Amino acid sequence: MTSTNQEMIGRDEVNDLEAILSITNTDVDATMHTVGANLDAIFTWDYERSRAPLVKLYEKAKTSQWNASTDLDWSVDVDQEQVVLANASQDGGFFSQEIDLSGTPFAKWTDKEWIQLGIESQNWTLSQFMHGEQGALLCTARIVETVPWIDAKYYASTQVMDEARHVEVFARYLDEKLSGHYPINAHLGLLLDDILADSRWDMTYLGMQIMVEGLALAAFGFMHQMTTEPLLKQLLRYVMSDEARHVAFGVLSLKEYYTELSDREMQDRVEFAFEAAVRMRDRFLQQEVWDRMGVPVKDAVQLVMADEGRKMFQNILFSKIVPNCKKLGLLERNGGWLRQRFTELGVIQFEDWIDTGEEYAMLDEVAKDRAAS
Ligand SMILES: [Fe+2]
Ligand SMILES: [Fe+2]
Repeated sequence: MTSTNQEMIGRDEVNDLEAILSITNTDVDATMHTVGANLDAIFTWDYERSRAPLVKLYEKAKTSQWNASTDLDWSVDVDQEQVVLANASQDGGFFSQEIDLSGTPFAKWTDKEWIQLGIESQNWTLSQFMHGEQGALLCTARIVETVPWIDAKYYASTQVMDEARHVEVFARYLDEKLSGHYPINAHLGLLLDDILADSRWDMTYLGMQIMVEGLALAAFGFMHQMTTEPLLKQLLRYVMSDEARHVAFGVLSLKEYYTELSDREMQDRVEFAFEAAVRMRDRFLQQEVWDRMGVPVKDAVQLVMADEGRKMFQNILFSKIVPNCKKLGLLERNGGWLRQRFTELGVIQFEDWIDTGEEYAMLDEVAKDRAAS
């Protein structure tokens, strides 16, 4: 039994623009958001250190902790307009050259509006990173309670500290160096709610460690490469070191667990992976930014969706998720169901890229800096 698109993502057509834009954050003034869940906190009396890959990961996590207050140079002055101009000179501006803007609201834009778009996009992106990091903080605190293995409880507890630090650095960067916050994007919010509402411990892992953090790892990597701003560059470099471990934690844990699950149980997992991929793709349309820029959201999003150059950039964000799903067997299980869906989303080409279970040690920039000093 497989679910319909309507059941998984609330619409029949994956690219139904009206349906995508009808999902908005209606809770923008609230300071709290509650997600109910009915789950078991699990003690284990088996203290045997039986999972060597997780033992190794835990040791690495203990030695690669860093302190956001003292390991980053917060005295750096950030001129956000200069940052936007420097980025635009590298990536050629928001839309790619092939997009014809005549007859659209953008045709009349001067440098002033394009710079403002760059500033708003940066405020929005870093805000979503911050909210996503809080989602990771809640999810890993959850995993400490719900995962039945002692080695995984130990490791997850280090990740709780990592995620607190990540929320801290993005919140501080937004406050001290940028020029405004955005509330959580509705698509990202839906996904985080779905992850936290699920009572099965491995679903927390799949949604957060594999999908959300896999995408974050790629997105941080892309921004780290692009930005010329030294504080953001260093901050992302350290956050990525942690994220690589987090994704590896997901891969190493689920690889063992999935071998025990039946096809019927696996169908829920592949469907959840698909739902997560669609939600994260929807969020990149950054509908809130267009709204704040005063352009018709639908027109702007239509242009974004038609822009093949931007699509290529967005697809790169799946370059960690797809090989990790492959490593977990998710692409092949259940008659290749997820392989088919990733093919339709245009991201299957990353399947043979390196998986994070293999590459995490190479990404430990904190350890490299310590060894050098
Ligand atoms: Fe994080
Ligand atoms: Fe993380």
